[in-house]
Amino acid sequence: MLDLRSKFPDYYQYHGRNISKKLSLSNVRILNDYYSKYSLDKKIINISSKISTEQLLESSLFRKIKIEVGFGNGEYLIESALSNPNVLFIGSEVYINGVAKVLKQILEHDIKNIRLCGMNFLHLLNTLDQNSIDELKIINPDPWHKKRHCKRRLLSLENIIKISGIVKNKYSSYITTDSEIYFNYINEIFSSNSNIIHKNKNKILSKNDRLYGVSRYQRKAIKNGKKIYQLTF
Ligand SMILES: C[S@@+](CC[C@H](N)C(=O)[O-])C[C@H]1O[C@@H](n2cnc3c(N)ncnc32)[C@H](O)[C@@H]1O
Repeated sequence: MLDLRSKFPDYYQYHGRNISKKLSLSNVRILNDYYSKYSLDKKIINISSKISTEQLLESSLFRKIKIEVGFGNGEYLIESALSNPNVLFIGSEVYINGVAKVLKQILEHDIKNIRLCGMNFLHLLNTLDQNSIDELKIINPDPWHKKRHCKRRLLSLENIIKISGIVKNKYSSYITTDSEIYFNYINEIFSSNSNIIHKNKNKILSKNDRLYGVSRYQRKAIKNGKKIYQLTF
């Protein structure tokens, strides 16, 4: 992965942090020795003509394909993969330390149903076939609160249209956020473009909801008394 990042930096470009602390020697070793076995990056970089999602993922053994974008330290991704062995999970994350953490867990538990994408998700999004994905989740994406940074938000009209195209069914894409500003911003995209995109559904999550408290960022927000908003489209 480290060699791909230095050879093809454009694919890995992202406005936030890619590495927060120096990678430990054992993480460098894990990434060098095992990343290519589980990752889609090389295939995505080498794609000169469109290949099918099934070819990209070699997924014919699995009943369903689900994506988690920005998995952070990967706890929800790992838990989902362990409890649903018939589903293939694609984890997308630009933060290398998080990728190394997940790779460690994959090896420890001998997990066979995770593929990783360590580059900016938009490259994966542009590669996947229409109607090929069963579910997509983004748990607490970076909110980019400052007005001058709002173009960096993952959920733009263009990306919402693309996401709606790759998932098989309506209301299979889930976003959670503790940012009221981001929540309102996404709602505004839906309400002012109802001629192009279908209506979204919203709720404030509570303890019994499936996606409540599933990640580190969410739990931190809950501890600070914040609401967790969920948007589904
Ligand atoms: C606020 S953190 C949330 C992490 C985790 N989902 C959680 O809730 O604890 C957002 C994560 O999304 C990742 N991310 C942001 N933009 C991305 C992109 N375009 N492609 C892949 N990962 C991205 C960041 O590296 C970061 O780890």
